[in-house]
Amino acid sequence: MTTTEDAAGTRRLGAAPGPETLDAAERMGVDELRALQLERLQATLRRAYDQVPHYRRAFDDAGVHPDDCRDLADLARFPTTSKADLRDNYPFGMFAVPREQVRRVHASSGTTGLPTVVGYTEGDLDVWATVMARSIRAAGGRPGDVLHNAYGYGLFTGGLGAHYGAEKLGCTVVPVSGGMTPRQVQLIRDFEPRVIMVTPSYMLTVIDEFEKQGMDPRASSLRIGIFGAEPWTEQMRQEMEERLDIDAIDIYGLSEVMGPGVAQECVETKDGLHVWEDHFYPEVIDPISGEVLPGGEEGELVFTSLTKEAMPVIRYRTRDLTRLLPGTARPGMRRMQKITGRTDDMIILRGVNLFPTQIEEIVLRTPGLSPHFSLLLTTRGRMDHLTVQVEARPDCPPERREPAAGEVRKAVKDTVGTSVDVTVVDPDTLPRSVGKLKRLVDERERG
Ligand code: DLL
Repeated sequence: MTTTEDAAGTRRLGAAPGPETLDAAERMGVDELRALQLERLQATLRRAYDQVPHYRRAFDDAGVHPDDCRDLADLARFPTTSKADLRDNYPFGMFAVPREQVRRVHASSGTTGLPTVVGYTEGDLDVWATVMARSIRAAGGRPGDVLHNAYGYGLFTGGLGAHYGAEKLGCTVVPVSGGMTPRQVQLIRDFEPRVIMVTPSYMLTVIDEFEKQGMDPRASSLRIGIFGAEPWTEQMRQEMEERLDIDAIDIYGLSEVMGPGVAQECVETKDGLHVWEDHFYPEVIDPISGEVLPGGEEGELVFTSLTKEAMPVIRYRTRDLTRLLPGTARPGMRRMQKITGRTDDMIILRGVNLFPTQIEEIVLRTPGLSPHFSLLLTTRGRMDHLTVQVEARPDCPPERREPAAGEVRKAVKDTVGTSVDVTVVDPDTLPRSVGKLKRLVDERERG
């Protein structure tokens, strides 16, 4: 793949796939796509109302009926669905088909109570593999590539979702799953994959392991990384592209809507993620009032599935914060900006809202500091207090640590508007991620 630079001359961009290899939906104009969406939306609403008692109740309570949807904008009249609704119907109450037609289930980890369960018919699994294959191709993957899949296999949708998509595209999949980091490095050396799929935080762990073993990660065969399942910033992209000599591309999805492959960044633009709108209808709402926001405004992302059989979701509130923008590399499909964070990982520190991604941006542009940091929330007196613990880079001279901590403190104060403590610790002392990273440790006293 040829690597070019964009107009600003600062980013590396990859080559677009040949137009003849795109799916028909990727080539559709907006009008054609909207007509397809309306038809699919009407069928989905009818199916949800007829087959899922929860939706019948919720629509009746809101005084709406599937027949009221005559236009895509009418969707805003229908009630939203939350994670709590899925939990209340645990395990199989949201299914719209007899259980015998469900070929597979996945579930969220359920760290806070019951897991949420999702189901797929054979048709759903085929759609999932199709959109996932489309995603890998948009990221620069091609049939014949060796693809190292380090997303976790199991109830998490990352591993199997990526796996079947890669097979469908025609790649040779190495189904490694997460963990056993030295072995990840060995398999990359031996099998020479061109593409890796993994959470961005675990990619950093693997890059560190290359260096620990005395190898230059840039000399590896990897040229494309498809990173998702957790928020990551442009600064993190730059870090990974430089250290690994790859194109680092964002992939988004969530189990309730399908899994990975709901939206995908294109390697030729790297400007946010195109939503695969032939299957998933996005809205952005004000998280407080629930009002639908106009294009371009930031709010909570909401999805309605357009083709799912086993478990249609109507206006599912993702809690992810982003904005919707017009399509670029796929002009018919809207783009979502890289996720800033989730409504539930927003830290409210003495009245100021703060996201871990804001700290990531600052840490990564501070010379001497590594991308490994964690956030500790405590109570001091009656006030909440945040300490940023960040590892020095191995080549950071000891006398650089204090100034670096001061620079982060000042940048947080200047850009976020709140005071935090910053401690620079030795390299390789903070816990490493093998899957989704938990950045925040909350030790606040609950009063
Ligand atoms: O994380 C699916 C996935 C697997 C996506 C592999 C991409 C790659 P869940 O475990 O249900 O599913 O978690 C979904 O993860 O609501 C976001 O908060 C977060 N998330 C997923 N992708 C991204 C991303 C999978 N690219 C939740 N950027 C979502 C930011 C992401 N956050």
